[in-house]
Amino acid sequence: MDTAHLETRRFLIVTGKGGVGKTTVCAAEARQLEAKGKQVLVTMCNAKERLSEMLGCDVIGSDVRRVSHGIWAVNMDPEKALEEYGQMMLKSKVLYGLLFDNKYVRSFFAAVPGMHEWSMLGKAWWHTTEKNPDGTLKYDVVILDAPATGHGLDMLRVPKVILDVVPPGLLRRDAQRAWTLFQDPKACAIVLVTLPEEMPTSETIELARALRELKLPIAKLVVNCLLPPLFSPEERATLEKAPASRAPKNGGESAIGSARDRSIRERIQAESLKRLSEALPVSPSFLPMLFCDAATKDAILELSKRVT
Ligand SMILES: Nc1ncnc2c1ncn2[C@@H]1O[C@H](COP(=O)(O)OP(=O)(O)OP(=O)(O)O)[C@@H](O)[C@H]1O
Ligand SMILES: [Mg+2]
Repeated sequence: MDTAHLETRRFLIVTGKGGVGKTTVCAAEARQLEAKGKQVLVTMCNAKERLSEMLGCDVIGSDVRRVSHGIWAVNMDPEKALEEYGQMMLKSKVLYGLLFDNKYVRSFFAAVPGMHEWSMLGKAWWHTTEKNPDGTLKYDVVILDAPATGHGLDMLRVPKVILDVVPPGLLRRDAQRAWTLFQDPKACAIVLVTLPEEMPTSETIELARALRELKLPIAKLVVNCLLPPLFSPEERATLEKAPASRAPKNGGESAIGSARDRSIRERIQAESLKRLSEALPVSPSFLPMLFCDAATKDAILELSKRVT
């Protein structure tokens, strides 16, 4: 699979298990794309916002804001996004107000399955179409910091649900345009983020299978928090036979115990990488485990050089 031209894609969807480093990867990708001269918008899904720490800027709210020369960001609020969408569809704030004070209209939107998810996914997609006054595209790349696995999948299924259940009209037309973009491997890339550990690996393989069923283009796998191996497989086997780590009399950790724990982590890492390479048709990018606070501007700049 072609991962060389990720920067030529218009839409990047970053997903993976909770806490594996999705937002970190979004920030690092955004910095890398910015360094290549791109204008990038990072969209978050009503997140407990930490991207601002990673980019070294003020808190990112529900209005799109320029964060640096080439990076823009927004933390999408579903209610507000839906309102914006409604106003855009009706091309009038007044008309929207009139309609939305109407309980039947409100209940229509509430009844469309996935409208909550679509309000954010649809908004992120819409930003890929947004233009400057001179007619050029406002953003070269839009990155979606998608929800973790299950919720992320639910969100990505929504355009298809809309196509299945919503009668022809503007909503359906936009869902069709978004779905066409998401399925186009030249325009869209799914970036899977994982840790080289047992559970995240299983969840990533499962997620990749579900994404393939949806015919969404998995273009990149980022294995985050990689440990540099200290032991060979033979040394690992010997160390794992050593007694489990226990506190020695002086209260510190025994050296052999720590070496054993580390060798177990390295074995699990090696097994996870093997499982990932067997199950996924993409060669991974590796981000090292940083032994400092990774949610800082400098740490992200460092990671951005590695997230090839
Ligand atoms: N390579 C790394 N080395 C050290 N710490 C890291 C690394 N990558 C991420 N972290 C830290 O791990 C934590 C989780 O990262 P992050 O917030 O990016 O995960 P997430 O997948 O977006 O989580 P959530 O599912 O809650 O949105 C953060 O504190 C982050 O700074
Ligand atoms: Mg996150």
